[in-house]
Amino acid sequence: MNDNALAEDTLASLRDQAQQDIRDLRARKNELDQDSIDLILTGARSHYAWTDRPVTDDQLHAIYDMTKMGSTSMNGCPARFVFVRSAEGKERLAKSVKPTNLKKLMGAPVTAIIAHDTAFWQELPRLFPHEDRRGHFSDKPAYAEETAFRNATLQGAYFMIAARAIGLDVGPMSGFSNEIVDQEFFAGTTLKSNFLCNLGYADESALFQRLPRFDFDDVCSFA
Ligand SMILES: Cc1cc2nc3c(=O)[nH]c(=O)nc-3n(C[C@H](O)[C@H](O)[C@H](O)COP(=O)(O)O)c2cc1C
Repeated sequence: MNDNALAEDTLASLRDQAQQDIRDLRARKNELDQDSIDLILTGARSHYAWTDRPVTDDQLHAIYDMTKMGSTSMNGCPARFVFVRSAEGKERLAKSVKPTNLKKLMGAPVTAIIAHDTAFWQELPRLFPHEDRRGHFSDKPAYAEETAFRNATLQGAYFMIAARAIGLDVGPMSGFSNEIVDQEFFAGTTLKSNFLCNLGYADESALFQRLPRFDFDDVCSFA
């Protein structure tokens, strides 16, 4: 038996295991109950004020461990997360935000900078090992950046849903200067900020009424 045959054997058994994992998952649970759906999406709100209850390192790890499993193109995983929680870190971040967002930022126990690495593709041999796709990006910076932004934005959404799934509240914010955040936190790197996400246990007394959403027929069509 040569090396390739061995690799094929290994691959076949990994493939079998992956297929069985999905069958097992479906057997355990095939849809969320309504309360769970409410917790992560339909009943969840964006929050603006925070209680003092802290967010633990274990919770941040749990959120990341869920987020990282969300799909990205070519499994590129371009998102990078900076958890800002020290007074010094918050002061640096505060330089970037619009005045209306300052209290929201400073009151949150943790604010995550959701960023992306424009050089994410250099890690593809580790993340997409069966075929070297670096050539798709190496001399196409605009394509690399577009791909990083698209997929890291998706990862930001997975992140918010993961945080809610473990009982935390989130307050996403784009009312800040990406340029200032990039200078403060990512100077000399290939990272760029996308949006900020306050994390913690919300003080719901700051909530206003739920805003309307489009109905299906307003924005969905068939082709
Ligand atoms: C990417 C993103 C950026 C946002 N930026 C801000 C912001 O800068 N300041 C703010 O007060 N709310 C911000 N929001 C909150 C939205 O206004 C809020 O999600 C929307 O009104 C829906 O509210 P709901 O989630 O409570 O239904 C942002 C939301 C998202 C998803």
